[in-house]
Amino acid sequence: MGSGIAQVAAAAGAEVVLHDREERFVQRGLDAIARNLDRGVEKGRLTPEQRGHIISRITPTTHIADWDVAIAIEAATEALDIKRELFRRLDEATPPEAILASNTSSISITVLGAQTSRPENVIGMHFMNPVPVMKLVEIIRGLATSQATFDFTKNLAEKLDKTPVEVRDFPGFVSNRVLMPMINEAIYALYEGVASPEAIDTVMKLGMNHPMGPLQLADFIGLDTCLAILDVLHDGFGDPKYRACPLLRAHVAAGWLGKKSGRGFYTY
Ligand code: CAA
Repeated sequence: MGSGIAQVAAAAGAEVVLHDREERFVQRGLDAIARNLDRGVEKGRLTPEQRGHIISRITPTTHIADWDVAIAIEAATEALDIKRELFRRLDEATPPEAILASNTSSISITVLGAQTSRPENVIGMHFMNPVPVMKLVEIIRGLATSQATFDFTKNLAEKLDKTPVEVRDFPGFVSNRVLMPMINEAIYALYEGVASPEAIDTVMKLGMNHPMGPLQLADFIGLDTCLAILDVLHDGFGDPKYRACPLLRAHVAAGWLGKKSGRGFYTY
């Protein structure tokens, strides 16, 4: 998702620093951006010159230090420890007035803000996958988020040609509080032998006009991410209705993480 965010920001005219832990991960992001832009050129949405300008606005790096930026958007793995550590480092690496945003799917923005010396400048900016295609950005205010931070972030989302929606800082926000129980229920239907994966997905695609069935969507999001979000919902609300299906846990334990690992509910 980080590369998707970098792409839409550069396409909107921003100078972007694209960071990942290792060179090969940064390169993977740059390759994905190049592929998406190539498709844009083929389809006549971009000229080769525009493609070149977008790429030239992206500076890749593996270091978090001395970033002279107005906003940093974190899109790391959905794990609290990793995000907490990153927010502490971003707090040191960016100017004190910079906004620190998280693309988290479910983790508390208030908790991330508390890792920094500027919780009023910390906010959630939750994009949807694939970022270049999906219009929604949930904008999540933490307890301490200032109005100025909210206004800047909402305005930025609009500049990126997205539709911002304001939500409050509750587990899973709105998107995953509604989406994940549906995905989990589809996995329970499979677990209990109600129907095959193809049948479950076909019901939701043809019966409810969803672009992807819930099991295909879970594979696309990543089963580890789905499990992490369900655990945040379960812990945060203490309500058994968010209990992750044992079959989802088993898939994650087996390393069957969905599309990215070659196998999830389907094989790729
Ligand atoms: N990156 C960039 N562009 C992509 C893409 C990707 N990974 N995948 C597809 N596209 C583009 C294609 O290039 C195509 O664009 P053009 O028509 O302009 O060429 C367009 O999307 C449609 O693609 P396809 O015709 O190949 O396929 P499709 O019509 O089946 O659409 C889809 C693909 C947009 C992914 C569609 O299946 C869909 O909307 N799926 C549901 C996506 C969804 O629900 N996302 C939210 C997941 S939840 C989340 O992200 C948040 C979270 O916290 C877990």
